[in-house]
Amino acid sequence: MSTNSVTAQTEEVIQPDPSRTYNLTSYEKKRQTFSWDEAVKGLGAASSGKWNAAYECIDRHVEEGFAEKTALLFTDGEKEESYTFGEVKTITDSYARVLKSGGVAKGSRVFIFLPKSPDCYFTILAAIKAGAIAGPLFEAFKEDAVRERMEDCEAEFLITDSELGKRVPEKDIPSLRKTWEITSLREEACGFADEEDPTVWLGEEDGMLIHYTSGSTGKPKGVLHVQRAISHQYISGKWVLDVHEDDVYWCTSHPGWVTGSVYGVFAPWLNRATVVIHGGRFDADEWYSLIERFKVTIWYSAPTAFRMLMSKGNLFENYNLSSLRHILSVGEPLNPEVIHWAGQNFGVRIHDTWWMTETGAHLIVNLPSEAVKPGSMGRPLPGIEVAILDETGEPLPAGETGELAVKAPWPGLMKTIWKNEQKFRSYFTEDSWYLSGDTAYRDEDGYIFFSGRNDDLINTAGERVGPFEVESRLIEHPAVAEAGVIGKPDPVRGEIIKAFITLREGFTDSSNLRESVRFFVREGLSAHAAPREIEVVEELPKTKISGKILRRVLKAGELSKYKEASQV
Ligand code: WT7
Repeated sequence: MSTNSVTAQTEEVIQPDPSRTYNLTSYEKKRQTFSWDEAVKGLGAASSGKWNAAYECIDRHVEEGFAEKTALLFTDGEKEESYTFGEVKTITDSYARVLKSGGVAKGSRVFIFLPKSPDCYFTILAAIKAGAIAGPLFEAFKEDAVRERMEDCEAEFLITDSELGKRVPEKDIPSLRKTWEITSLREEACGFADEEDPTVWLGEEDGMLIHYTSGSTGKPKGVLHVQRAISHQYISGKWVLDVHEDDVYWCTSHPGWVTGSVYGVFAPWLNRATVVIHGGRFDADEWYSLIERFKVTIWYSAPTAFRMLMSKGNLFENYNLSSLRHILSVGEPLNPEVIHWAGQNFGVRIHDTWWMTETGAHLIVNLPSEAVKPGSMGRPLPGIEVAILDETGEPLPAGETGELAVKAPWPGLMKTIWKNEQKFRSYFTEDSWYLSGDTAYRDEDGYIFFSGRNDDLINTAGERVGPFEVESRLIEHPAVAEAGVIGKPDPVRGEIIKAFITLREGFTDSSNLRESVRFFVREGLSAHAAPREIEVVEELPKTKISGKILRRVLKAGELSKYKEASQV
């Protein structure tokens, strides 16, 4: 196991603000008494036995008298839109009717390829309302990335717009039955205004959402989530996001990532929050001005974004950010400096959370009512048991680094890996420990500290990138013979993608050539997967027997250079 073992324990503890009331105040007691049945009680499904996440997110609140409450606030820096729960119900109902009339039924795979926008959220819910499995795609994906996912999933339906639609190679996806361009879906929906309730009632093990995620080997895998996950999403939204009736909640992630779907759409709406969507890219001024304009109270983002804001110095002083009362982070290690920055400048802590696409919802959390130890990801959510395992699968004591594992099952846990039951099973030990691939240690108080990965997965700006996917694309470039891809430490992005390549005969290294290779990956896969650094080498390190490229050796070489540089 390649662990860069972190044993120095931080002494610092930051206490919660005692003047506030929190949805969960007695962590220790709750851990002892909690059972998942309690989480289900917050849902309509508890009494009806009928499951549908879209109903629970929207329709239930309308039935309970909240039709007039603001469900959604959107801005892209220019235009602004606002929708009540009643309006979102009307829209998602009519979209769901159109989808059903087009053939969408229980279990259909409906892919959604739209920018971060109200319609992206509405179509995800409409697909689920119609009984389908929603497959949201990140808006920066290019043709190869889209093809791989839709092909593997045997996508049957697609909702997109005229721009992103150009990146969908429909002829390569024979399973595709119908594509709706969003403007025509909207028009068609007008004709389906006030008919019967389109909700398709499901069982708790029926599909609702699929996200493709990278592994350290092979192509991206389809992680299937089912309806039962909503009880986990609901209770973590209540306790960890700490949603109260008057909260304005903003998650910065696109629903093509699991953070953007589970904590952008489902968890906040299951808790009836007013949800904010920001359209467009990161822009420090726009972000601060959005918080001021919409009076955001809860903000969920990622360390890279916070670090990018930090690098803008005192820009925040131009804005009134006093509405912020709760900030959360996920996706990559949250360094203590960032927590200190938020404390000094916004007067609030940042609460780290740990989970994965596969786990479906929060597992390790910093509750707003509990002490935060900067550098720690927090403690297990009530209902969750974690352990640090050694190489033989035995639990390790406090202070020792090993693989972070979670006792299965829990409601948010993926149902399977699409068409790959064997891969699904490979996540679990015989004693039902889910193996995360992350390495970590626990302190005497049960706080978990992240140390690294035990495989080659790259985490750049909080986004998970499989080296194999990038290498496969690289070697399609006419100049590239072989490629090895690693994550290189970076002060802002955590890691950046670095590619080592050898050239085919007739090509020589130049900055133009490297730029063309980078562009080729960017245009084929997506911007976030394109190597920021490319190094042309004579030879790549390989295993003697099978000739497999040794990414570990490339990484070790890079790490020693990085260490030298940071000691100067
Ligand atoms: C991997 C999962 C679903 C959350 C968003 C990312 C890393 C996640 C933390 C954290 C350090 C973290 C892990 C994990 N990660 N949260 N708080 N501190 N690392 O989901 O794309 O499935 O990636 O992200 O390495 O295994 P994902």
